Amino acid sequence: MKNDLLSVKDLTLEEINIIFKLTGALKKNKKKFNRVLSGKTLVMIFQKPSNRTRVSFEVGMYQLGGNALYLAPQEINLGVRESIRDVAKTLSRYCDGIVLRTFEHKNCLEMAQAATVPVINGLSDFSHPCQALADLFTIKEKFGTFKNITLAYVGDGNNVCNSLIFAAAKTGLNLSVATPSGYAPDNVVVKEALVVAKTSGSKIRISENPLEAVKDAQVVYTDVWASMGQEEEINKRKIIFKDFQINAKLLANAAPGVLVMHCLPAHRGEEIASDIMDSARSIVFDQAENRMHVQKAILIKLLKS
Ligand code: CP
Ligand code: NVA
Repeated sequence: MKNDLLSVKDLTLEEINIIFKLTGALKKNKKKFNRVLSGKTLVMIFQKPSNRTRVSFEVGMYQLGGNALYLAPQEINLGVRESIRDVAKTLSRYCDGIVLRTFEHKNCLEMAQAATVPVINGLSDFSHPCQALADLFTIKEKFGTFKNITLAYVGDGNNVCNSLIFAAAKTGLNLSVATPSGYAPDNVVVKEALVVAKTSGSKIRISENPLEAVKDAQVVYTDVWASMGQEEEINKRKIIFKDFQINAKLLANAAPGVLVMHCLPAHRGEEIASDIMDSARSIVFDQAENRMHVQKAILIKLLKS
């Protein structure tokens, strides 16, 4: 049976821990793993722009001895030139894994159902599992544990937020989310996460108050106010989200020494003040780097025969 990675929800805590352990080993000793995916090819279908996801997967495959092939939106024209099902079946005859960056999450499900090789969600409107795994690996690197650590997510209850909720609930990390009214994370995600959190001990709180959310948080996280595909809403959102900016004033309410995270790309001066991005508190580029290490672990887990 092939395995896919479409949502953090599908991973057990044990699987997450295995990925993190392998990530640590890969980060420490790049050379040791440089033939492990020799002869394997990853096809990457992107319907949206990307810096980190595309480059980290491509370089990651190269570092593991494999090959990656990037297909830009206009090349494959997914679902227009050819159905997702037919693309999945065709690519499964050529390659060993597929990364899909798409709009509707159901495209990921359809691709995974039809493909006979593993499918990895490289971001959908619903979730961004590789991002959340890299983020939690980064937090573990900084604190050594998730126990009694609180992450505050301030901003839009979007794909990244949904994935962080699942990841926190599974691992026992406390998560306090604050979004403007009407921009809360997916209701079903929150409900399911609260059930899982009962086992892990994670405290998940959802509110509309950024000051309350960051109170005592050791890590504060944000993401763009308008995600890819929502660009035309940005002017409206700039007004609605104005009190949800990560800046020195907001961080003064967090725990001393608070660290700041952002999945990037950042819109400096909107969801995050530019001086905070460049400050010693910011670990955003550690996160970006860890995308590659975590994804190499995911690739080994899914593609290695
Ligand atoms: N964080 C992230 O996924 O970045 P890209 O959109 O540049 O891939
Ligand atoms: N929420 C953002 C994340 C980008 C990595 C988006 O979907 O555009």
